[in-house]
Amino acid sequence: MSDYSLRLSDAEVGRYGQMAEAAREDERDLWEAAGVRPGARVADVGCGPGAISAVLARLVGPSGGVRGVDRDASALAAARELAARSGLANAAFSQGDADATGLEPGSFDVVMMRHVLAHNGGREQAIVDHLASLARPGGTVYLVDVDAGRRGAPVLPGLEDLEEAYRALHAKRGNDLTIGRRLPDLLTAAGLEGARADDRGRTIGLRPGMRPPSWAAREALVSEGLATRGDLSRWAGVLDRLDGEGMPYEIEISQVCARARRPR
Ligand SMILES: C[S@@+](CC[C@H](N)C(=O)[O-])C[C@H]1O[C@@H](n2cnc3c(N)ncnc32)[C@H](O)[C@@H]1O
Repeated sequence: MSDYSLRLSDAEVGRYGQMAEAAREDERDLWEAAGVRPGARVADVGCGPGAISAVLARLVGPSGGVRGVDRDASALAAARELAARSGLANAAFSQGDADATGLEPGSFDVVMMRHVLAHNGGREQAIVDHLASLARPGGTVYLVDVDAGRRGAPVLPGLEDLEEAYRALHAKRGNDLTIGRRLPDLLTAAGLEGARADDRGRTIGLRPGMRPPSWAAREALVSEGLATRGDLSRWAGVLDRLDGEGMPYEIEISQVCARARRPR
C-alpha cells in the first residue's frame, strides 16, 4: 500500500510554487524539446496543488490547454483556486488515479508526471504504461523524479531523525527513492521510443514558514508508528527556531527528468 503521505498547508503550497518557478527556469530546454509550446495539449498527472499546471497553462496559452489529475480532493481544490486566481481558463482539473486518470487516450501532445512515482512503490510500470496511452502518436511522456542516492537526502540541522523516519516510511511502503535512475527503463518498457534522461538536481533556498516534504508527512509517520506526538512537538520546536533565525538553509533536490515519444 503506498498511500500518499504529504498533507498541504499554506507553507507547503508556497514550496510547490517555488519549485514550479524553478522548474520552468531549469527545464526550459527540456520542456521545449518535449513539445510544451503555444497551442499544446498537456496532461499533468499527480498535479498536486497545481503549481506546475499553472506554469504550463501560461506557456501553452489560450489555444492550448492543461488537464490536471490528482486523487487528492484538497490538492485539486487548491489547484482550481490557483488557476482561477491566475485567470487561467485553459486549465481544468479532475479526480483520478495515476494509472486510471479517465483522460482521453491518445489525445495529449505532452503527458507530464512529477514526483509521483516515488510515492507509488510497485505500481510504477502500470502508471507509466497508462501515461504512454494518453500521449498522441508522436507525443511525449515527460517524467521527473527523485534520485536520493545521488546526493543524499536534504537534512536540516536538528531534524536528522525526522529525515530518517521519512525514509523509513517510504521503505515500509515499498517506495523507491532512487526511482529517478529507472525512469528511462520505465518509459522504454511502456513502448515509448528514444528515452533519454537529464540530471536536473537543484538547490532550493527555504524561507521562514516553509517546510521540507518529511514534515508534510508527519501525520503518516505517527499513524505508521515511526514517530510519536512528542517527536512532532520537538520537530515543530526546531522548525520554529529555524524560522526565527530566518530559515537560512537550502535543501538539495536530486532529481532526474526523463522523456520519450510515442511511436507514430
Ligand atoms: C509530491 S506531489 C507533486 C505534485 C506536482 N506534481 C508537483 O510536482 O508540484 C505528489 C502528488 O501526487 C498525487 N498522487 C500520488 N500518488 C497518486 C496516485 N496513485 N494517483 C493520483 N495521484 C497521486 C498526490 O496526491 C500529490 O498531490
